[in-house]
Amino acid sequence: MRLAVVGTGYVGLVTATCFAELGHSVTGIDIDEKKIAMLKEGKSPIYEPGLEELIQKGLKSGFLRFTTDLPSSLADIDMVFSAVATPPGEGAKADLRAVFSVAESVAEHAEREILFVNKSTVPVGTGRICEEKITEVLKKRGKTFAIPVISNPEFLREGMAVPDTLMPDRIVVGVNGNEKAKTLMEELYRPITRVGKPLLFMDRESAEIVKYASNSYLATRISFINMLTEFIEKNGGNIRHVAEGMGLDHRIGPKFLHAGIGYGGSCFPKDVKAFLATAKEKGLSFPILEATDAVNRHQRERFFAQILVALPSRGTVCLWGLSFKPRTDDMREAPSLDLIPLLLKEGFTVAAHDPAAMENTRMLFPSGIRFATSPLDAAKDADAVVLLTEWDIFRGVDLNDVKSAMRGKDLFDGRNIYEPKDVEAAGLVYHGIGIHSSSHS
Ligand SMILES: NC(=O)c1ccc[n+]([C@@H]2O[C@H](COP(=O)([O-])OP(=O)(O)OC[C@H]3O[C@@H](n4cnc5c(N)ncnc54)[C@H](O)[C@@H]3O)[C@@H](O)[C@H]2O)c1
Repeated sequence: MRLAVVGTGYVGLVTATCFAELGHSVTGIDIDEKKIAMLKEGKSPIYEPGLEELIQKGLKSGFLRFTTDLPSSLADIDMVFSAVATPPGEGAKADLRAVFSVAESVAEHAEREILFVNKSTVPVGTGRICEEKITEVLKKRGKTFAIPVISNPEFLREGMAVPDTLMPDRIVVGVNGNEKAKTLMEELYRPITRVGKPLLFMDRESAEIVKYASNSYLATRISFINMLTEFIEKNGGNIRHVAEGMGLDHRIGPKFLHAGIGYGGSCFPKDVKAFLATAKEKGLSFPILEATDAVNRHQRERFFAQILVALPSRGTVCLWGLSFKPRTDDMREAPSLDLIPLLLKEGFTVAAHDPAAMENTRMLFPSGIRFATSPLDAAKDADAVVLLTEWDIFRGVDLNDVKSAMRGKDLFDGRNIYEPKDVEAAGLVYHGIGIHSSSHS
């Protein structure tokens, strides 16, 4: 099939590249000329495992191309995907300006019926509004064909985006009974459904809600387990044992029960808040989600406060990990973005290492941070090491070498990846989350 994907960010680029990998003819479109120039040369503007190789393969095979020219890309396609960002806007509501702008541009330049597929995370009712806007433009242009709008929310995880796109748990499509759209989507996703992955058709509103409900539910599980950590720190116990004991109940399951400094990233924080804002707009409240958001904020603040208390004379803090999670360079809502300004304001010297996100961090903090070449280099002369992102490289470090490199001995484990007894055997002081000191050995 022939299609265009508008927006070549974390979602659009992976979507375009994976559709090309599945044998479709795909044009990736973006307004960012620098991004498109890089992509035309086969370079990925984002760090995502396996992506750059597939981009180069797609360009070479001719199934994938990139352009800034939306109008000419619409000439002979069956469908256009919109994968532009929907960042927090006024009152945490999703800012839909980019989505509407793409919908209107498509309506202004299309010369025949095209299916408009919205991949961005958008509040319920956005598909209807897009369709109204498109219809208005087409009417003004005197065109008699339609551009139906359907919803196909994206569930990929950064760091696992390529396998998640090629082998998703499920594909959700909101078509409102449009049989032609349904047939097109069945054909598009056939290489994936053929290997047994479910393609669910539903009404457009349900599809829009599935995305917010899924992210909100996952965020709530994280906040639930994090809620227990402070309780355990005061009463005894170890959150990892509690989570394991809970997770082996098949009704609960082990995933998203890892305690830590809370969720970040471009999706969970903004989607929870946007879902809350939509509910409020409709005169409703989501008390569970209010609590999810509040626990998440509290968890981050609580962890940062512990660092300040442990280092009253200030000194040097080494940060391990800067991105919001491993295997990505995405800094959106990363804990490091809150912690770095706090440390600098408090008079600390900051050193940091991250396998992929140092360049992005340097752009946000052009001064004040020493970017180190390795975890050990970052730990050199540090009074405390703070693990923020659980990249594999930090799991394997020799803690004795870390102790030798440091000036002080505090290790703050923001993701509970170390065994307290191993840390203490190396002569370091362990600060985990939800692990009472009585259960360290
Ligand atoms: N990042 C994720 O992990 C993830 C996962 C699932 C869903 N989503 C959702 O997918 C959507 C996109 O997220 P993202 O992380 O890919 O965003 P992003 O910021 O990485 O990418 C958006 C891209 O759209 C481009 N763009 C903006 N306006 C444009 C226009 N008018 N025409 C052409 N290009 C335009 C930008 O230049 C940018 O390259 C959001 O709604 C997000 O909530 C994101």
